[in-house]
Amino acid sequence: MNASAEAIAAKPSTVTADKLGQDQSTATTVGEITSANPRMRCREVNVWYDDNHAIKDVSLDIGQNEVISMIGPSGCGKSTFLRCLNRMNDTISTARVEGSIQLDDQEIQDKSIDVVPLRARVGMVFQKPNPFPKSIYENIAYGPRIHGLTNSRAELDELVETSLQRAGLWKEVKDRLDASGTSLSGGQQQRLCIARTLSVSPEVILMDEPCSALDPIATAIIEELIDELRAQYTIAIVTHSMQQAARVSQRTAYFHLGDLVEVGTTDDIFNQPQHKLTEDYITGRFG
Ligand SMILES: Nc1ncnc2c1ncn2[C@@H]1O[C@H](COP(=O)(O)OP(=O)(O)OP(=O)(O)O)[C@@H](O)[C@H]1O
Ligand SMILES: [Mg+2]
Repeated sequence: MNASAEAIAAKPSTVTADKLGQDQSTATTVGEITSANPRMRCREVNVWYDDNHAIKDVSLDIGQNEVISMIGPSGCGKSTFLRCLNRMNDTISTARVEGSIQLDDQEIQDKSIDVVPLRARVGMVFQKPNPFPKSIYENIAYGPRIHGLTNSRAELDELVETSLQRAGLWKEVKDRLDASGTSLSGGQQQRLCIARTLSVSPEVILMDEPCSALDPIATAIIEELIDELRAQYTIAIVTHSMQQAARVSQRTAYFHLGDLVEVGTTDDIFNQPQHKLTEDYITGRFG
């Protein structure tokens, strides 16, 4: 490919904007949307709910072994974008998603993709812990059984144990695996849900405000866990807490009214944002 063809093929990924400039359009993302080692690659993603254009031309890579936070005012499209990454918007009848979303080199928007294995590869943890009304053991064993991941009860027992260990819950529940998942505390339930996600060997984990229903101690435990999980998984987390974004993520993406306004290293976004909207948000001027 010659240089000009290359320039056309490569969508501009870096745009600098003058923070003091008067006319900062939100149409183009400021900062580096690409990742050196991308796991997921979103290009020109648009989402509508009926005629409400909730995500506008968003392009973003999510890199291997990184935690990326999605921040921005309520209603800016963080959850909508996160749900694009494992086709969860399919479950909303009014939602329409366009654009390219690749997991490794596979286009997950293809109609031929089976969303059940996709959602095992790209798992999701929700704001409100949602354990099944079943035992702790069954909460974890359910997914591996459905996906046929184990061949014997002993293998399943081992997978339940390792999943609970990875989620930092094993010691607290090993003597009461038959108790109901809903009998655990909120923070324990959220770790149970993380263990459930881990049990089906995900590659990417999506977390939508996973700590918003938790107290500071449970939050600290989950944040520590996220940091440990990064070694093995790719994690995208939506959070309203800028302190949390700063603590757990290496990259941060700032959304505003459906636009991805700016993306960069978490350090840069919080210490030297390029876009006025990002600066206004992180300095608490709105949102
Ligand atoms: N299930 C839905 N049906 C119709 N419209 C929706 C649905 N979910 C979100 N929207 C709309 O899409 C836009 C983006 O909403 P979204 O929930 O993605 O924002 P958010 O950034 O996650 O907000 P919050 O911080 O409050 O969770 C909003 O205008 C919202 O009203
Ligand atoms: Mg949301």
